[in-house]
Amino acid sequence: MPNRILINKKISQYKKKIEVSSDKSLSIRAILLASQAVGKSKLSNLLESEDVINALRAIKKLGIKYKKKGKTYEIQGYGLNGFNPKNNSVVDAGNSGTLGRLILSLLVRSKKKIKLIGDKSLSKRDFSRITKPLRNFGANIKSKGNCLPVEIQGTNFLRPINYFESKGSAQCKSAVMLAALNTHGVTKIKAKKSRNHTELFFKFLKIPIKIINEKKYDLIEVKGLQQYNCFNYSIPGDISSSAFFIVLTLLSENSELIIKKVNINESRIGIINILNKMNANIIFKNIKTYKGEKTADIYVKSKSKLKSINCSPKLNSSAIDEFLVIFLVAAKSKGISIFKDLGELNEKESPRLDIGVQFLKMIGIKVERKMNDIKIYGNPNLILKNKYSLKNFLKDHRVFMMGCVAALTLGGKWEIHDKDSINTSFPKFMNILKKLGAKLN
Ligand code: S3P
Repeated sequence: MPNRILINKKISQYKKKIEVSSDKSLSIRAILLASQAVGKSKLSNLLESEDVINALRAIKKLGIKYKKKGKTYEIQGYGLNGFNPKNNSVVDAGNSGTLGRLILSLLVRSKKKIKLIGDKSLSKRDFSRITKPLRNFGANIKSKGNCLPVEIQGTNFLRPINYFESKGSAQCKSAVMLAALNTHGVTKIKAKKSRNHTELFFKFLKIPIKIINEKKYDLIEVKGLQQYNCFNYSIPGDISSSAFFIVLTLLSENSELIIKKVNINESRIGIINILNKMNANIIFKNIKTYKGEKTADIYVKSKSKLKSINCSPKLNSSAIDEFLVIFLVAAKSKGISIFKDLGELNEKESPRLDIGVQFLKMIGIKVERKMNDIKIYGNPNLILKNKYSLKNFLKDHRVFMMGCVAALTLGGKWEIHDKDSINTSFPKFMNILKKLGAKLN
């Protein structure tokens, strides 16, 4: 089977209900926190994608047993630092920045030497943003330069740190929170706002945590060396996976879609806030609270008169994984959209700011870029007729899926490479497209 897809036809109108794959951030956090709990945790609706399977393999490598029973994964934890790895074990985080950064931080007290590796894309990403604070805790970390591979050997003599997180990175914030779990005393974090799943998980697990929410920053204190019990958790749908279908529906004609039971944590729904400001009318129905997290069914319908946005950088973190499809909407909207301070996009699985700008230019959209700020000159009459090819994007799953949404809504003849990349986050993506009537070859 070729690892590329051909799309030569726009999607026809549809009216459907779908379920997307489960949330990746929550799946990885649930596995890692279960690995440190006392007793057998039961996780259902876990995302069965490569990033999450790599998380399961990683804890197994570190001596934690798990079993799948029916649809539930049971993970046997032995409390904090309950790992029991062989010396010089190699843990492979694959493509996942979240897994790589969070698992490393759980190793700060491990006496054995562990090497962390990743795939080509992950091996290009900056790990110094997390090895620096982990060294401050007292862990011994060796690396050449700022990237993987990294070797860690923990210690019993950890000291709590004061940490300032200035990028709005939930991975950095969460990594420090997880290292704090294994450290005697109180670790203090001042973090630019970012997704708060780890904080909500700590509260649900009754791990001692204090949080003060300021306007731009959150002040977090974690008291370490407090054991917590095993837990049951069912993972809801992923808003970042939903984003592709929200934009597909918005940009296609006379279509309506309901996406069932998606996590709508306030710190993740930047895309909804941005698109609604652009004149979309996306609605949450059936809102529920589950173990501190909110879920809802998302209702979206096609919209022909979209308008540009001057997007506040305050929304950047809550939409961080969604900008590629947000750029597509800007390309089809009336007026000039402005996005600022998007440097973090170039720190992802591929340099998404660079790729997003190149992509828009390829489809004939005028874009002006100054450093990390861009202006997109929208064209509501944009209809594509030429041939387009999308390849060499470091197999970034979100670039592939954005390409499919562009092809199915804007027209043209498309060849989109590295289809397998979707397995990292959203294995059901193609099946759902087919269910909505997309013609794919
Ligand atoms: C994630 C945080 C974000 C996001 C990533 C998942 C997480 O990364 O891009 O897909 O689960 O904490 P940063 O924290 O580096 O912005």
